[in-house]
Amino acid sequence: MSAHVPVLAVDGPGGSGKGTICRAVQQAMGWHLLDSGAIYRALAVAASRRGLDAKSGAELERLATNLDVTFLPSADGDTRVMVDGEDVTDELRQEQTGNLASQVAAVSAVRDALLQRQRDFRQPPGLVADGRDMGTVVFPDAEVKIFLTASPEERARRRHKQLKEQGVDGNLPDLLREIAERDERDRTRSVAPLVPAPDAERIDTTGLSIDAVVQRVMSLLQDRLLL
Ligand code: DC
Repeated sequence: MSAHVPVLAVDGPGGSGKGTICRAVQQAMGWHLLDSGAIYRALAVAASRRGLDAKSGAELERLATNLDVTFLPSADGDTRVMVDGEDVTDELRQEQTGNLASQVAAVSAVRDALLQRQRDFRQPPGLVADGRDMGTVVFPDAEVKIFLTASPEERARRRHKQLKEQGVDGNLPDLLREIAERDERDRTRSVAPLVPAPDAERIDTTGLSIDAVVQRVMSLLQDRLLL
């Protein structure tokens, strides 16, 4: 039955605009949203609480299998993320959580343990899936695949702005360096590396408005689904 539920797979590096674009399209379509990065981040939080790191193979795999994570819609339209019953939403967004997430995400057994959990988000009437391997591994049969990119400088600027809005004073050169390191790790890992699916539509969002990208994605989706 899941085969009949359409999926829009959106992959790309951090800061390419995936989160913003996915939320906008998800709302316009009235579909479900899978923020797969939030699952890896939740695992990173749970691992650091237990003193585990990316080298703790078997324990990490067990933790990934039993990970107690829930996504709760909040009154302000945002989503609160609970790990082991604790609201970790703010911690989830921190750079150090993203870095640890990128490290635990390179462990093959961890990715396998989280695969079905991600596929379970495919529920009617449709799913917008945001990640690094949505079109290549998790939903290879997705109706539409998009690969978003943007220059590292643009992505660092966006991240800086985002942090500022959260009241955090990020340092631009440090952000640029962290982005480059994370990209390198995500792109060169042996399992599910960050690469466009051969049938993905690539969109460089550098200098494009959010609206322009959303319109492009919506029109691809409508063409493909013949809406
Ligand atoms: O999208 P994000 O920044 O929240 O993701 C955090 C890290 O999680 C990212 O650096 C790599 C990993 N990740 C992954 O390996 N596969 C995904 N589908 C999503 C995220």
